[in-house]
Amino acid sequence: MGKWLGLFLAVAAFSNICDAYRILVVFPLPGKSHNILGVNIVNHLLKAGHEVTYVTPFPVKNPHPKLQQLDVSDNFDLMDEKMLNVKALLNKEISFSNPIKMFTFTIELFEKTVQNPNVVKVFNDTNQKFDAVISEWMYNDAYSGIATLFDCPFIWLSTIEPHWIILSLIDESTNPSYVPDSLSSNIPPFNFKERVSGLFFQLLSSAFKTFYLNGVIEREFERLLGPYLTKRGKAIPSFSDVNYNVSLVLGNSHVSLGQAIRLPQNYIPIGGYHIDPDVKPLPEDLKKILDNAKNGLIYFSMGSNLKSKDLPDELKRGFLNIFSNLKQTVLWKFEEAIPDLPKNVHIVQWAPQPSILAHPNCILFITHGGLLSTTETVHFGKPIIGIPVFGDQFTNIERAVNKGFAIKVTLSYTMLDEFKVAIDEALNNPKYRNKAKELSAIYHDRPVSPGKELVHWVEHVVRTRGAPHLRSPALHVPFYQKFYLDLLGIIVAILSVIVIVLKRVLKLKCKKKENLKKKKN
Ligand SMILES: *[C@@H]1O[C@H](CO)[C@@H](O)[C@H](O)[C@H]1NC(C)=O
Ligand SMILES: *[C@@H]1O[C@H](CO)[C@@H](O)[C@H](O)[C@H]1NC(C)=O
Repeated sequence: MGKWLGLFLAVAAFSNICDAYRILVVFPLPGKSHNILGVNIVNHLLKAGHEVTYVTPFPVKNPHPKLQQLDVSDNFDLMDEKMLNVKALLNKEISFSNPIKMFTFTIELFEKTVQNPNVVKVFNDTNQKFDAVISEWMYNDAYSGIATLFDCPFIWLSTIEPHWIILSLIDESTNPSYVPDSLSSNIPPFNFKERVSGLFFQLLSSAFKTFYLNGVIEREFERLLGPYLTKRGKAIPSFSDVNYNVSLVLGNSHVSLGQAIRLPQNYIPIGGYHIDPDVKPLPEDLKKILDNAKNGLIYFSMGSNLKSKDLPDELKRGFLNIFSNLKQTVLWKFEEAIPDLPKNVHIVQWAPQPSILAHPNCILFITHGGLLSTTETVHFGKPIIGIPVFGDQFTNIERAVNKGFAIKVTLSYTMLDEFKVAIDEALNNPKYRNKAKELSAIYHDRPVSPGKELVHWVEHVVRTRGAPHLRSPALHVPFYQKFYLDLLGIIVAILSVIVIVLKRVLKLKCKKKENLKKKKN
């Protein structure tokens, strides 16, 4: 009996392994950090034995045998000089300077992606089957239509902290009195002005989306994906049926990094999944520098956006001057050689950031505050000095300051004094270090790793055909019912009737009294 059971379990386990799914992952945005998030979803799924088709502007040579790449590197055409602003905007750095430009860009990006010949080949092939579609949400809902094409469940990857727009797709909008907008750097608790501006902005954007943008996206969906549906002999559904049919949102967020707001059952926070839990060994030269940094090492990197050539000479010299007076070693990721380097400063063109942050001698990270970098600092428990440059970096640094493991310095020609003070404070006051360690412990204290969680929930969605049991009932309750406007209407009507009746009765009584008086007279 036991033997048979054992055999049965072995077969069951084996057939489970053979349960490989075909998953389409769509990350069309030509931004490095977006690709890091996309590639790591792909890698986790491949490692779990699934087959992945990846729509990407960054195809690699010699891909994994179970990986098919659909090259959309043409999307780089949309990022020309004129749109430098928008490039900053969407390269993970949403600046709020021109939202209309941003929406136009996201719509063009969708168009260009689904019209790319490599993508068309797959969409136009009725033999192509997928078990799920995963796409990055970047201010455009249209990608959910791709799952309709393949009649399979759809999953969003939300790159930032949970916010009202993404949550309204699977549950309902958040309350602007304590949840900031995705583009806002306000930190709760809000003062009166912040609360009111939050409400105003949310109502305004919500109206823009409902009354304008959704219409645009519906037409895009019909025009660009409709023909493929027709070819498959299917009717074109209304876009709201498509848009509110999302199975899951995978959130690149974790409570240790953000706020503990309430989340629907099908929002799964997997912040940190892009970080390999097995830290790769450092290259020999870097290892030597870090091992020998007896007084600790400060790692300075402004990410891939701020090129050294953009830094004015006086700042470069000023930074070096400050560094040369420190007893710590400084490792600066910088794209060009610098003559007369101080002894304790080392320049590297390329740096394996996680491996550096993981080294015990690394005691401080000076960063632009991209979300991936701030996640990595919490992962490795290192304090930071944040010099935000674009859009969401301001929010990330603001949040890190609020959490207590960061000091913010504003980028400017006159920042050197502030920068020096910040370094001294970060090195001499242990509270930043301690806070980073404390948050890191919370961040790591999870039942399973974020990568495992990712794979589990994607498989769960496929196994349960879109996980309808996880969907929030709030999704289909209209506004007037949620706020009991119908009840309010009934109460107002009843009260009005009572008032009218009372008025009439009083009038009648008055008249009777007057009549009586007249008679007496
Ligand atoms: C899609 O396939 C059909 C044949 O089934 C072909 O006639 C059509 O040109 C293809 N469309 C595109 C855009 O490649
Ligand atoms: C809704 O999702 C299910 C899977 O969860 C899918 O089969 C179906 O095609 C989707 N419907 C629409 C209209 O997108």
